[in-house]
Amino acid sequence: MQISRLGAVLGLFSYFGLATAQTYTSCDPLDKTCPADTALGKSASYDFTSGSSSAFEATGTPTYSDDGVAFTVAKEGDAPLIQSKWYIMFGRVEYVIKAAPGTGIVSSAVLQSDDLDEIDLEWLGGNDNEVQSNYFGKGETTPDNRGATHSVANCHDEFHTYTVDWTSEQLVWQIDGKTVRVLTPETANANQYPQTPMVVKVGIWAGGDPNNAQGTIDWAGGETNYSAGPYTMYMKSLEVTDYSTGSSYSYSNKSGLWESITSDGGKINGNIGADTISSQSAPTITATVSIPIPWPGTHRETSSYVTPDVWPWVTGTGAAAYTGTWSYSGSGQIQPPSAASVIFLPVYISLLAVCAGFIIPLRL
Ligand SMILES: *[C@@H]1O[C@H](CO)[C@@H](O)[C@H](O)[C@H]1NC(C)=O
Ligand SMILES: *[C@@H]1O[C@H](CO)[C@@H](O)[C@H](O)[C@H]1NC(C)=O
Repeated sequence: MQISRLGAVLGLFSYFGLATAQTYTSCDPLDKTCPADTALGKSASYDFTSGSSSAFEATGTPTYSDDGVAFTVAKEGDAPLIQSKWYIMFGRVEYVIKAAPGTGIVSSAVLQSDDLDEIDLEWLGGNDNEVQSNYFGKGETTPDNRGATHSVANCHDEFHTYTVDWTSEQLVWQIDGKTVRVLTPETANANQYPQTPMVVKVGIWAGGDPNNAQGTIDWAGGETNYSAGPYTMYMKSLEVTDYSTGSSYSYSNKSGLWESITSDGGKINGNIGADTISSQSAPTITATVSIPIPWPGTHRETSSYVTPDVWPWVTGTGAAAYTGTWSYSGSGQIQPPSAASVIFLPVYISLLAVCAGFIIPLRL
């Protein structure tokens, strides 16, 4: 009994070792020297009601109409998204979004850097009156106290303007021009204030997919019923101001500090000014939320990015529930974990347990 438990522990240990050895981004600048990030370096406006923009790269099949770019979950594994080909180094991003309905469906608008700093907005399909804000620094996931919820009426039925204004001194989230949250380097978790060049990613996924861990399904509001879909999120427009200038941004060392970011041909904070939101006092956060996974939705992206196999911090789950990597098939859709990979872990553990059961008594 004890021996097979040891076997299981050993099995799990090697499994976790395997999983955590994977890289999270194609090149983590805190680990090694990476290619420079292409800079936006100016202001830009994207009107998706007139079609797609070559400044974005799509995963899956977003479509375009008078409502802008549409992201649809029609079946298991659908997770379309668009991602900017440029980065901003501090700035202001204004999304005009109508979130998707549907239990377990997650609409996301995320800023994300190569070392996994993140500034998020997420809407759950089961709640027509709420948006969640969240942030991460260097992919750190603890303490799990960073999510907040904010009221917004009819967010599935109406377009609203969601703004993120991000400087080295404050990060402001606004809904329809009204500040709902302010984060500063002092109020953020230690060393987790977002401060490296970010891309914009907007898309949809099914947090309520029955293959997901129970903790994820619970956070997403329950299991998604694909037959009651399809479920669609829309983004009409995006306005962006990069507060820095130049053609590319680089990490001059592995600190992940904003002071270490350099610009080629421009200046960090060289464009900060006119439309930067002035210093804000923080409104009281009335509701916080424990968001169980650090890389939901839009993080599950293309071949360049391997989602960690195991999220041990997800509550109420065995590792087996999460064994599959959501892989990019190349045909445009992000696929859920295969049944084979879900079966694999228990088999692997059992084998190890059996081996340990044989080997350990022999050596005693
Ligand atoms: C899923 O949706 C379909 C279509 O609306 C409905 O007939 C079915 O009862 C739903 N299933 C569950 C489990 O709610
Ligand atoms: C990285 O660069 C920044 C800015 O020059 C500096 O403040 C910091 O000490 C450096 N960190 C390391 C580990 O070299």
